[in-house]
Amino acid sequence: MTAVHSPFSRPHLLGIEDLTVAEIEDLLSHADEFQDVKTVPHHAGKTVVNLFFENSTRTRISFELAAKRLGAEVVNFDAATSSAKKGETLEDTARTINAMGVEAIVIRHSEAGAAGKIAGLVDCAVINGGDGTNEHPTQALLDAYTIRECKGRIEGLTIAICGDILHSRVAHSNISLFRKFGVKIRLIAPPNLLPSNAEALGAELFTDYAAGVADADVIMTQRIQLERMRESDKPDIEKYQQAYRLDRAKLVLAKPDVIVMNPGPITRNLELTDDIADDPKHSVILQQVRNGVAMRMAVLDRIMDAELLG
Ligand code: NCD
Repeated sequence: MTAVHSPFSRPHLLGIEDLTVAEIEDLLSHADEFQDVKTVPHHAGKTVVNLFFENSTRTRISFELAAKRLGAEVVNFDAATSSAKKGETLEDTARTINAMGVEAIVIRHSEAGAAGKIAGLVDCAVINGGDGTNEHPTQALLDAYTIRECKGRIEGLTIAICGDILHSRVAHSNISLFRKFGVKIRLIAPPNLLPSNAEALGAELFTDYAAGVADADVIMTQRIQLERMRESDKPDIEKYQQAYRLDRAKLVLAKPDVIVMNPGPITRNLELTDDIADDPKHSVILQQVRNGVAMRMAVLDRIMDAELLG
């Protein structure tokens, strides 16, 4: 894999919104080349910093594995023991890491726009690992990869995204990607957790779960992001479970070969029941996790190659 101009040859990956279909296709097919690849030391001698100000299991570890499998060194920033605790600003932290001579920063931060903000301050690559409620582009890419792996296509599918859509950066990046691919997007949530700009998003809104999942090819469940909610928006958990938890009775309304997704972490028995989360026929949740490594290898490889091209 030599440095050649690819459809995706950007210095940063900040969001799905900016990408063309050709760029997304390029990353999806590049990820295929990394499935089951344990080491391709193509980026030996480079350094990737995981700059995570919010908790993470899947995203941080899969970026770390992806970078290591590409031969790069990885440094994990721990916000809790860093100088952020002494009042250092995000901008100064980013400039400080950049000054040490690294090739890429993967950032997760609670502020929408944080990745874009630091991209303008550093001369290394910046990859958005989730910025507030805004975007989580690599999650949408690995979700698209998983859907194509299971269904053979993305175009023309009916995909229901259910749960706390308002606060979910995963839902926002997925909606943005699905629009570009001509997906029939359905958003299912209580009225206060639905976005207000559905028409602009090209999505159909449902407060009735049964109507929303009818004949769906894919059901994407999303966690209730209590940490991002105003007190007045927090739902009554029992009522929420009754109306918005994916269970067997709701699942049978979708297509017989429907796949059930969740970006993780799952809140068991809140957004979906245990038996659906662990259902070997429908749940692809661990397949999403597995694909996350290959997808992040594809993104890091393209981005660190683009850096070579200048
Ligand atoms: C998500 C996130 O942090 O945005 N998790 C992930 O990256 N897989 C979703 C969530 O926290 O619910």
